[in-house]
Amino acid sequence: MDKFLINGGKALRGAVAVSGAKNSALPAMAAALLTADKVVVRNVPKVRDLVTMSKLLAFMDAKVSVAAVPASDYEIQAPKLNHAEAPYELVKTMRASILTLGPLMARLGIARVSLPGGCAIGARPVDLHLKALEQMGAEIATSRGYIEAKVHGNGSQGRRLKGAHIVFERITVTGTENILMAASLAEGETVLENAAREPEVTDLIAMLRKMGAQICGDGTSTLRIRGVKELHGTEHTVIPDRIEAGTFLVAGAITGGDLKIHNCIAAHLGAVIAKLHQAGVQIDIVDATTIRVRGTEKLLGADVTTEEYPGFATDMQAQYMALATQAEGASVITETIFENRFLHASEMMRMGANISVEGRRAVVRGPAQLSGTTVQASDLRASAGLVLAGLVASGETLIDRVYHIDRGYEGIVEKLRAVGADIERVHAPGT
Ligand code: EPZ
Repeated sequence: MDKFLINGGKALRGAVAVSGAKNSALPAMAAALLTADKVVVRNVPKVRDLVTMSKLLAFMDAKVSVAAVPASDYEIQAPKLNHAEAPYELVKTMRASILTLGPLMARLGIARVSLPGGCAIGARPVDLHLKALEQMGAEIATSRGYIEAKVHGNGSQGRRLKGAHIVFERITVTGTENILMAASLAEGETVLENAAREPEVTDLIAMLRKMGAQICGDGTSTLRIRGVKELHGTEHTVIPDRIEAGTFLVAGAITGGDLKIHNCIAAHLGAVIAKLHQAGVQIDIVDATTIRVRGTEKLLGADVTTEEYPGFATDMQAQYMALATQAEGASVITETIFENRFLHASEMMRMGANISVEGRRAVVRGPAQLSGTTVQASDLRASAGLVLAGLVASGETLIDRVYHIDRGYEGIVEKLRAVGADIERVHAPGT
């Protein structure tokens, strides 16, 4: 398993370009299942999850072609889908495979998708996805670790979902995306209340609309979808990754550097920028797609609570915790989205951070001089938090299991080295 070796203490200076959003590219590729026409998805980050998604689509008999490997543009065409199944072998490596459920139900009225199961940060149930599809006329059973879903044909209509009035008990990003895709080809209108408002959801709506879907309410928590008979192909360029951008904002701040972050959408980072300002970080919006971040001598402790968009993103919590270890005073971090998303705290404590965790609340006291040691990555964003801690720690930090970070950050070692970080990937053959 590869590791990252970081020699901390270097201020990062220069410019970094943000890649496409993994969490936008995943639903965009799944949406290609909704039509027999060709769909081109551009600006896809070269990270493992998207390779897994392309394998999954190919498993379902979609034709997936790329101009180069690794790819940033995917051409997908699913003229017929003989294999409406997402097998465990693929789903276990990428929970977002659940995003094929909605399109398969919409296109074929039948689907067999492995239950994603939990991960390090929580149980990650998909009950809300299933309940919503049942409201749309799907019959769903779970057996032997699989979701078996089908819509009984009703005469001439064949197997077609029906529009419904759905109110999500709690906000779910991929749940909203699954129902958006399912409702796009359903009979009649679907009203979806308490929908997620993440920019990745809005990006999917933009793509579906280009395919002929009739959707309104983007950016609000109530979406209305009028089903159509067919959707046609399109080309779609996914939005920049706001979490990667936020991670680099923290990298510039925590190392006391001066970074320009290009290809990002500042408007998607409102809550993160406001919080970093409160912590004393100098951030300038240079233009609509460029943000400049400069570190200051004194970072100030500031409390943060993770919330659904437009609140402070849970996917930025570990990165913020790393920064908080360097801030004067206490920062109370409350994680409201996932039940077990403080795994990075214990690793940062081994580096010398002063953190006390109690349930969904962590209190970070600083500033603490971190010192390099060997640490374990546990999930995608925890790994990012450990990289940031390593960048500011004295001495060498060796991060193990960096396959976690390779799922969601394109070329993070190269991007960090290009702005002065002393970081390298250590290949550990065989293990
Ligand atoms: C998406 O996951 C993202 N993944 C996650 O990013 C992100 O952390 C999360 O949204 C929250 O923003 C993708 O978009 C591929 P949820 P998702 O459904 O959709 C509970 C990353 O780092 N819930 O919004 O799976 C759930 O347990 C990943 O890129 C149910 O109870 O998250 C959680 O507590 C990590 N039942 C909360 O809702 C359901 O049916 C929010 O989950 C669905 C969700």
